[in-house]
Amino acid sequence: MANVYVLNHPLIQHKLAVLRNKETSVKEFRELVREISGLMCYEATRNLPTVEVEVETPVATAKCRMLAGKKMAIVPILRAGLGMVDAMVDLIPSAKIGHIGLYRDPETHKPVEYYCKLPEDIENREVFVVDPMLATGGSAVAAIDFLKARGCKKITMMNIIGCPEGVKAVREAHPDVDMFIAALDEKLNDHAYIIPGLGDAGDRIFGTK
Ligand code: PRP
Ligand code: URA
Repeated sequence: MANVYVLNHPLIQHKLAVLRNKETSVKEFRELVREISGLMCYEATRNLPTVEVEVETPVATAKCRMLAGKKMAIVPILRAGLGMVDAMVDLIPSAKIGHIGLYRDPETHKPVEYYCKLPEDIENREVFVVDPMLATGGSAVAAIDFLKARGCKKITMMNIIGCPEGVKAVREAHPDVDMFIAALDEKLNDHAYIIPGLGDAGDRIFGTK
């Protein structure tokens, strides 16, 4: 699919195998989410614009490339998206951070908004929305709706595990949004959990169950 990138790098695959395991501890789960997010960030930022600069090395002048100074923002979908933020900020330290709070209603599986705080100049920034799980796609679509309502034009979605239902929902609602996914799983179950997935990402990151 044109703007859906499934990252099948061996390091990501290996870390994902450990992440999925139900025996993996909260500490290790959190560390793995962070490590995978860093590797995903490397891929998702591949097309950032650069400019040529000249750098004086101790022996000569080198023509180099640096980031063109495009302003960026990282927007985690609370809660689980928080687990992906630190790795992104390590690599993009000048990025501002917005938060969108959504939880899925357990009956309807539809997203319910409870918080939204975005950088004032968000409309001028390239935005990376992060959330480990893309299930029905309802949360991702709602988050991107908020960002577009605030004037954002360049939005990239990053999910560790997705499924066909979620990808379809985002692509239909927001065909202009690039999607980076570490693994595309088989399907949703009757409770809208990803199969095989990894269970509840928020609970596993924060140790709440
Ligand atoms: C999870 C996950 C996504 C959402 C995905 O969050 O982190 O935000 O579900 O499901 P969807 O694609 O069907 O919308 P959850 O609602 O469990 O909240 P939490 O992060 O606070 O645990
Ligand atoms: N949210 C999760 O944390 N896991 C799923 O499988 C689906 C939604």
